[in-house]
Formats: sequence, C-alpha cells, structure tokens
Amino acid sequence: MSAGGPQAPQESLPFHLRGNYAPVPQEVTALDLPVEGAVPPELQGRYVRNGPNPKTGFSPHWFVGDGMLHGVELRDGKAVWYRNRWVRTRSFVEDASATSPEGVCDRTVGRANTHVIGHAGRIFALVESSFPTTVTRELDTQGWFDFGGRLTTAMTAHPKLCPRTGELHFFGYAYLPPFLTYHRADAEGRLVQSEVIEVPGPTMIHDFAITDRHVVFMDLPVVFDLELAQAGTMPYRWSDEYGARVGLMPRGGTNADMRWFEVEPCYVFHPLNAFEEEGTVVVDVVRYGELWRQGAPTFAQASLHRWRIGLSDGRVREQALDDRAIEFPRCDERQTGLANRYGYAVYTERGADENTGTSLIKYDLRTGASAFHDFGSGRIPGEGVFVPASAGAAEDEGWVMAYVYDAMRDASDLVILDAADFTAKPVATIRLPQRVPFGFHGSWIPDSAAARA
Ligand SMILES: [Fe+2]
Repeated sequence: MSAGGPQAPQESLPFHLRGNYAPVPQEVTALDLPVEGAVPPELQGRYVRNGPNPKTGFSPHWFVGDGMLHGVELRDGKAVWYRNRWVRTRSFVEDASATSPEGVCDRTVGRANTHVIGHAGRIFALVESSFPTTVTRELDTQGWFDFGGRLTTAMTAHPKLCPRTGELHFFGYAYLPPFLTYHRADAEGRLVQSEVIEVPGPTMIHDFAITDRHVVFMDLPVVFDLELAQAGTMPYRWSDEYGARVGLMPRGGTNADMRWFEVEPCYVFHPLNAFEEEGTVVVDVVRYGELWRQGAPTFAQASLHRWRIGLSDGRVREQALDDRAIEFPRCDERQTGLANRYGYAVYTERGADENTGTSLIKYDLRTGASAFHDFGSGRIPGEGVFVPASAGAAEDEGWVMAYVYDAMRDASDLVILDAADFTAKPVATIRLPQRVPFGFHGSWIPDSAAARA
C-alpha cells in the first residue's frame, strides 16, 4: 500500500515518507483477526499505538504528521478487532494553527501523534506541544481535554503513572516562559498540583522520570532555535554552551525544593526507569552523546546508560550499561519509580537500510545479561510493551507485545512474546489487514483503565 502525497520517486522522498514510514491512506476496521498461535485469555483489553500519519501524505518532518492510532482488542483468547483512526484534533479537522501571528500558542491545537495512555477512565492521545486529546475505547476522538480548565500548559507525551498512588505525574514545556511546569493529577484524574520549575532556557524536554520519593527532570542541551522555527521545521538544535543537568524535586514539593546536578552533555529522549536505593537516585536512560547539531533531520545512535545521583555528596556517577544501539525503552510499569530488574527496548542497528534492526532486546539489569528476540529477516519490530499476566504476577511474568512490519509481505502483525521466555517462538502472531507504519509509543489499556464512552 503506498501513500498519497507528492509525485516523486520513493528514493527522493525523505525517510519518513518512504517504505514503512510512509502513511497509510485510509481507516480500516477488521473483525475476528487470524491468529497464529494462541492469544492468552488473560489479556482482556486493547493494545493501542500512536504515530504520525499525515493526512495529506506529506509532512516536513517525521514528528509533525497527524496522529493515527492503531489498536487491537483482545478478549477471551481472540483478536476481536483491529482499528486505525486518525486523532481528529483541531489541526486535523480545521487545519487550525497552533501559533498565532503574535507567537501565542493555542494548546487546543496539536497533532496528538506521540503516545496513548489510559488514566482514571480516560484514554489520552498525546503530543508534547498541546493539551491531551481524549479518545474512546474504539479509538474515536472526543476532543481536547484541559482537566476542567486547570491545565494551562502543554502536556508531555510521557506522563508517569505511580503504581503506588495511582497519581499521574507529568509536565509541560514551552519555548516562552514558563519554560517548564510540573503537574500532578490524582487517581481520580483531577489536576491537583501545578508548579513552575525554573530552568535557564527553553530546551526540548521530551520525557522525565519519577521515583517513589522524587520527580526527575532532564534539562539537556537541545535548545529552541528561532531560525529553525521560522523555517517551519523542528525548532531545536544542539548547544555547546547550555550545559546539562538533572533535577530532583521531592514529590509534593515546589521549585524551591529543586536540586540540580550537572551531568556530561548528552541528550535523552527516554529514560527506562528511575528508583532510589541507599541514598542514591538511579536513573537509567537511553543516552545520545549529541543530538541535532545541524538541526533535526538526522538521528545518531543511543545506548543504555545509568546515572547514580548521590543525595548526600551531590555527585553524579555515569556508567554505560551497554554499547548497543537501542531506543523505545520500557519496563513493567508496576515498577515505575521502583527498582526494576528487567527492561525491554528496540534494537536499532539500522544503518542506511530501514529493513535491518529486526530485534527486541531484553535486559536483566541485576545480572547484566541480555537476550534478543529476532523476528527474522525483514521483520522490524516497534516498541515492545510489557503486560503483566495478572495484577499480582511477578516482574517479567507476562507478555511483551509489539507491531512487527514484514517487508517481504508489506504487511504487519501484532506479535505477543512470553516475557520470561523471550527468545522462544511468539505466543501469538495476529495478522493485521494493513501495514502499520513505524510510529512512536503505545500502551496496553485494560478494561479497568478505560471507561466506554
Ligand atoms: Fe517518546
């Protein structure tokens, strides 16, 4: 299936409009999907993943295409449906602009293309430049959501759900002051705290972390650039001057309680997790040595590193945990903010050929061991999401699921792996009626986390 868009040979298109990065042109509903293997009957809910899928077939950068959700509902051992739906934001429906001629941002406008999560009976489609957009279990758009008028900034695409309290911790960042604002919603979904966090300048802050006692911010040297903004592309570039720091705020605290720690300049889109042990805050991150010196079109490779922040001596010790290229790190989210033994990531050894990088990797952070699940020649996985077998299951007792693109068939599957037997043949491979373009992040949204609209 080819995308619409400019009449140009594939080779002359930017990477994000070619091959399986290219958008799909239609919304599809398919029922009772064919399955190879057996869908575990414990899985009652839906896997949903977000990604850019420009409705015109063209976007100037991978990050700015209209969001499209791809979901598969699983029930009683069956793959009940597949649906893909554009997130019908004001950008999509009205071609509304997020920025006025005076440079004022309208947070009701955005592409909602980065992540999708469930919290307190709502499903949020998220992009870091705007308010969340709520969607139904069937992936139909309800509209933008600002917590009853309490949210006054954008919302990161990477909120953190505390497994202990049910609170949703998140933040918004902006290129005009306040550059960074922290928010906390309670387990019922009410926004109960917002705090402006002082940082020296406008940096790109894609993600953050929590521990059971702290919120962890990363203020890293990829800074807003007005010239790039005026050129209509990703308005951030590497800075040799800005410096790099990690900030800790006690949960429930304010900017006055922030402690900042210098780290070696680098960039991190995604932490794997953070936790505390013996007076140390441990933050595991997928670290780029440098990012976007010439602007945003190219990606370097990143690998798993650990920061150990000493709360008494204020020192940060950085350690490379692995040297292989990875992205999209995830853990068992029942361990968010708590010591996790396992992590999962996409192995991104892509080089110039997008049809390499055929593995998910699983880390055992206690022993240092790792395992690959190689999906086979030309079969490219996206982010792997861990789903526990039950609420009380041990860490790693459950499944890792991902969309896998098969270049030979130009088709995609939802593949379910046994997390504890990671290299084994998949538990289930669900055949989808169309390919799922490479995208960003997704979630398993059990029935309990998503009210039917
Ligand atoms: Fe992300």
